[in-house]
Amino acid sequence: MTAAHHIHSMQPLFAVVDESTIAALVDRFYAAVRQDERLGPVFDAAIAPDAWPIHLTKMYAFWSSVMLSTGRYKGNPVVVHQGVDGLAPELFGHWLELFEAAALELFVPSIAQEFAVRARRIAESLKLALFFRPNQPWTDDLRDRPPLDA
Ligand code: HEM
Repeated sequence: MTAAHHIHSMQPLFAVVDESTIAALVDRFYAAVRQDERLGPVFDAAIAPDAWPIHLTKMYAFWSSVMLSTGRYKGNPVVVHQGVDGLAPELFGHWLELFEAAALELFVPSIAQEFAVRARRIAESLKLALFFRPNQPWTDDLRDRPPLDA
C-alpha cells in the first residue's frame, strides 16, 4: 500500500465485505477490463453493450457466494468460459493484475488480499479445466504469485 494510493482514493478504504462493497469492486474491475487493450476486446466480443448489466449482476452473485458463502451464484463458469472466443492461458495473469489492483483501490489491504487469494485459486482451477493437456508442461501456477503487499 503506497502513499499515492491513499492520495488518489476518493473515500476511505472499505473494511468490510458485504453485498454493496462487492458490487463496488465488481463495477470497478469490469470498468477497467472494458478499457484494457488485451481483455477489453475479448469481453466486448462475448457481451453485447446492453447485456453488461446482466453480466455484472451475475458477478455480484458470484463474489457474494465466494466471499460470503451466500450460495447466490448458480452457474458453471467452466462451461461458460469454454464458449469465450479469444480466451487464452496467458490472459489469466493479466486478469488477476486488474482484479487485484481494483481490490487494493477499494479495500483495506487484508481484505484485498483475501479477494486475491480466492481469485488466484479460482483462476488457476479455471485455467486447468480449460487448458490442461496431459502431455504438455504446466507452468506459471497463479496461486504462487507474491502477496499483494510484498
Ligand atoms: C483471462 C481471463 C478471463 C476472461 C477473458 C473471462 C471472460 C469472461 C466472459 C467474456 C464472460 C461472459 C461469457 C458469456 O456470458 O457468454 C465471463 C463470465 C464469467 N466469468 Fe470470466 N473470464 C476470465 C477469468 C475469470 C476468472 C478468473 C473468474 C473467477 C475468479 C471468472 C468468473 C466468471 C464468472 C463467474 C462468469 C459468469 C458465468 C455465468 O454466466 O454463470 N472469469 N468471463
